[in-house]
Amino acid sequence: MATNEATASNETDMKEQEGDAEATSATDAKSATAQDPTMSAFILGYTGEVGKELVKQLAREKVFKKIVLIGRRKVEYKDEAISNNTTIEQVLVNFDELEQSKDVFQGLDVGFCCLGTLRSKAGKKGQWKVDHDYPVKTAELAKEGGCKQYHLVSSLGAKSNSMVFYNKLKGQTEDDVKAVGTERTSIYRPGGLMCDREEFRFGEWIARKSLAPVDYFFPGVITNATSIVAKAMINNVSKHIDTPSEILESKAIHKMGTQ
Ligand SMILES: NC(=O)c1ccc[n+]([C@@H]2O[C@H](COP(=O)([O-])OP(=O)(O)OC[C@H]3O[C@@H](n4cnc5c(N)ncnc54)[C@H](OP(=O)(O)O)[C@@H]3O)[C@@H](O)[C@H]2O)c1
Repeated sequence: MATNEATASNETDMKEQEGDAEATSATDAKSATAQDPTMSAFILGYTGEVGKELVKQLAREKVFKKIVLIGRRKVEYKDEAISNNTTIEQVLVNFDELEQSKDVFQGLDVGFCCLGTLRSKAGKKGQWKVDHDYPVKTAELAKEGGCKQYHLVSSLGAKSNSMVFYNKLKGQTEDDVKAVGTERTSIYRPGGLMCDREEFRFGEWIARKSLAPVDYFFPGVITNATSIVAKAMINNVSKHIDTPSEILESKAIHKMGTQ
């Protein structure tokens, strides 16, 4: 692990992070918690399970003055907290031509990336594009546009030199997003995501059923509820970190998301 990176993977690290939290900079705290917020944000993957939670929670909290949902399809929200929320807008982009949409990323302070697909759906190349190329390119465009924080949902086991394709993909994405050099990059490595998934995925359904007791008794050990991942990302925006990047493993996500 690089020395200029914080990893919050165990209790000790979390205590340090709590210390950091107390030292939250006045500016960040003001931006993220005040009644009159000053920062704006964008969400990629807002139609996915983690992304949907982010939208739902942010629609009810005055954290950002503007939230841009950047995606490939428009959503009609039944939830009035979202549909009537004048701070939330949707912008459609072609992810294969992101350079054409660089203006969309202009002036947005915080980015949340919850993009991802399955190899069974998109093939190896397609999954690499969605899980790696899109996050890296959007991080670049966002940085050019003035973005100060890029929050990336990765996965437990991410490791760029792994022999396992998925772990390598996630690890390489983390490395390349960090290399973009946004003022701050926060990486989240959740375990199995617990939620009532809209799309039926047989393998994940079996996994969720068998992991349910583990999640109940030991939340955050190898599983994370999508609502808690989203809450952790939101809470973390206002925390000060002393390093350009940090990694929150599943336990740290659980702690941050249940504060
Ligand atoms: N499933 C798990 O248990 C698990 C565990 C650990 C980490 N993760 C990681 O956590 C992240 C979030 O997971 P999730 O379950 O919330 O994801 P998800 O429900 O599968 O949603 C993925 C998002 O990515 C978008 N997307 C997919 N293909 C795209 C494409 N070709 N072009 C543009 N957008 C595309 C989807 O948009 P559309 O709705 O338009 O398709 C959706 O908004 C992912 O990176 C995933 O790998 C998952």
